[in-house]
Amino acid sequence: MAQGQTKGSGNLIVLCAFLVGFIGALIVGWIVFPKVLYSKKFQPIDFSHESHQDSDCESCHYFRDDGTFSGVPNIDNCIECHEEMQGDTEAERVLVEEYIQKDKPIPWLIYAWQPDNVYFSHAPHQKLDCVRCHRDVSKEKSTPPVYINRITGYSKNTMKMVECEKCHAEQGASNACQVCHK
Ligand code: HEC
Ligand code: HEC
Ligand code: HEC
Ligand code: HEC
Ligand code: HEC
Repeated sequence: MAQGQTKGSGNLIVLCAFLVGFIGALIVGWIVFPKVLYSKKFQPIDFSHESHQDSDCESCHYFRDDGTFSGVPNIDNCIECHEEMQGDTEAERVLVEEYIQKDKPIPWLIYAWQPDNVYFSHAPHQKLDCVRCHRDVSKEKSTPPVYINRITGYSKNTMKMVECEKCHAEQGASNACQVCHK
């Protein structure tokens, strides 16, 4: 009897030790490791796409006559409405006082940023909806942080090669290496 009891509590200790180790591993894997792996960066100005929904996307993101894409807009695209403060937000004060009045470009961070060894152009993708490749920004009240992988230097939102290739295969576009790696 006495022997059986000791054995039982021994099993309990082993079980507890297992659970502690198991839960510990989950915490490290799900919470600690991603936090250590990614550095969190904030946009220089908290920009809201929702506040600007009266403007067309093309007024800030447009294709030039030569087919190249304007990308993220800068102070030239903001000055017509924000030469002076119109509201009382800190974000607008930073825009007006730190950038527009000092004629300094805004160093926006790019969520979808691709490494240098990848060639991407918006030109052949003009007919596709922005949300095929980007998150839906139209209702965003605030810019989310940008996560940069400390090992690879990639943004967490960089489109992965498999995602490019999946769509190319579906739409009959070429998947030869040199199409995307020049
Ligand atoms: C008043 C100008 C303005 C308008 C209008 C506008 N945007 Fe933007 N957009 C910005 C600015 C500034 C940024 C950079 C800050 C940020 O990422 O939010 C940006 C960033 C983005 C990005 C993030 C790209 C990346 O990977 O970093 C996407 C996608 C985007 N816009 C799509 C849209 C779409 C779709 C519309 C129309 C529904 C739109 N934008 C309308 C100014 C504008
Ligand atoms: C086929 C996928 C795809 C589609 C469709 C697409 N994008 Fe992008 N976009 C990307 C990728 C990939 C990047 C990163 C490019 C790089 O780092 O060279 C990017 C970058 C951007 C950037 C920031 C970097 C820059 O200066 O080019 C903006 C702003 C942007 N896209 C807006 C848009 C808008 C607005 C639309 C819809 C009109 C759109 N994109 C459609 C894949 C796409
Ligand atoms: C066509 C006019 C127009 C243009 C161009 C414009 N904005 Fe605005 N912006 C507004 C209006 C209107 C508001 C106020 C919206 C509100 O209070 O709901 C605003 C508000 C803001 C605010 C204050 C915070 C907020 O979201 O309400 C910031 C920051 C801002 N804009 C940044 C920018 C930047 C950066 C650009 C250039 C890329 C830009 N705006 C271009 C009209 C414009
Ligand atoms: C949602 C679908 C889709 C996604 C995602 C996509 N593409 Fe494409 N891509 C296309 C289509 C369709 C074409 C062909 C357009 C044409 O022929 O007019 C194309 C063409 C291209 C071309 C030009 C090919 C040529 O022969 O000139 C390049 C370069 C390219 N894509 C790179 C990329 C990269 C890099 C990515 C990922 C970051 C990507 N694409 C993601 C649909 C997509
Ligand atoms: C449709 C576009 C596309 C095609 C086709 C493509 N790649 Fe990629 N490739 C990418 C993108 C985007 C990345 C960066 C994102 C990632 O790592 O997933 C990448 C990343 C890579 C990397 C990793 C580089 C690094 O710095 O981590 C290698 C290696 C690579 N590609 C090799 C190839 C080879 C070999 C082929 C031909 C069999 C090929 N790719 C075809 C889009 C493409």
